[in-house]
Amino acid sequence: MESVDLLITNANELLTLKGPKKPRTREQMKRLSIIKNGSVAVKNGLIVDVGRNLRYKAETTIDASGKLVMPGFVDPHTHVVFAGSREFELDLKLAGVPYMEILKRGGGIFYTVKETRKASPTQLLQQSKKRLDTMLSYGTTSCEAKTGYGLDVETEIKILKVQKKLQEAHPMDLVSTFLGAHTIPKDQQATEYIRTVITEMLPKTKGLARFCDVFCEKGVFTVAQSRKILDAGKQYGLIPKIHADEIVDTGGASLAAEVGAISADHLLMSSETGLRAMAQKGVIGVLLPGTPFCLMMQRYAPARQIIECGVPVALATDLNPNCWTESMQLMIQLACLKMQMTAAEAVTAATFNAACAIGMHNTVGSLEKGKQADCIILDCPNHQFLPYHFGVNLVKTVVKKGRVL
Ligand code: NIG
Ligand code: FE
Repeated sequence: MESVDLLITNANELLTLKGPKKPRTREQMKRLSIIKNGSVAVKNGLIVDVGRNLRYKAETTIDASGKLVMPGFVDPHTHVVFAGSREFELDLKLAGVPYMEILKRGGGIFYTVKETRKASPTQLLQQSKKRLDTMLSYGTTSCEAKTGYGLDVETEIKILKVQKKLQEAHPMDLVSTFLGAHTIPKDQQATEYIRTVITEMLPKTKGLARFCDVFCEKGVFTVAQSRKILDAGKQYGLIPKIHADEIVDTGGASLAAEVGAISADHLLMSSETGLRAMAQKGVIGVLLPGTPFCLMMQRYAPARQIIECGVPVALATDLNPNCWTESMQLMIQLACLKMQMTAAEAVTAATFNAACAIGMHNTVGSLEKGKQADCIILDCPNHQFLPYHFGVNLVKTVVKKGRVL
């Protein structure tokens, strides 16, 4: 009998997510390619077999009877590297002060920028590592991480270097996004700061970042300014991403299609024209329901309309000091209970489509032969339990690159 390192056997439901090797849309999002009583065999960190009644001699065997086994979650939008916290802003939010007003008063992103500039690389590393540990324990095995709490050359690069250290030292797979254009520093004019981003920061991202993001929003960066920054990023090999149409529809979705962004994120207010343009270009819509949830907004991204337009949808936490959660399980719950996504759509959005949104779908996001053995075992019998049994951590075992954590 052939030997393997790890065998996970007899899962009540094994979600393989096997299917087209590109972002899934519409009906495709509902297909999880489920194997009843399924097993997964792992060797040298990779999946070597997936099916029923697998027969191998395994060093470690995990009996997953009665349980749900699926790919580890992929969180494609986080601001995980930051210092300090902003719990005191909740009182302002409860008093009805809008997010942009808190920012204008020097709070919000500006507060975190102050804290992050003060923090040493070691402090940033320790604080971020703790968050990655929590993410792993909640089943996230790959994630994206943005800069954006530096807003000066020194701190933006400091954050990128911390991210690089995390890539090397932490079991989490982490891809970096340069978000120097997170907002305009208090003491600068937009044109002056954009010049710094383009001429001083972008050249220094070499070998440190894969994507370039912009907070394209009324009162932050306009569509024209965002286009300029993203086009400049492309010159340095950075693939565009956009924080688009979160509070006001400024045409962020259309810009994402125009510049060939890999994803446009938030999309609460996007126009139908913008969404259709995204669908046509295959731009992934990353929905972040944690943000309207913690801002106590009535409105969430119109997921049904976005899916019907043909946009491949992914989910992410947006983990940041305004929306501090490490849980993709909570995102699935909000996606279903607040955005009317089905459990199956939400699972696709939190795994395979999320992997597509950070260019990792060839290695993670589904359980298929040859892919990285990143999978999670949940203490529930099927995927419909994910939005149903909420507010607890259903993940019992996390396997990262074949290693049981
Ligand atoms: O995606 N909207 C801009 N950036 C983050 C929030 C950052 C913050 O408030 O610190 C977001 O929601
Ligand atoms: Fe964000």
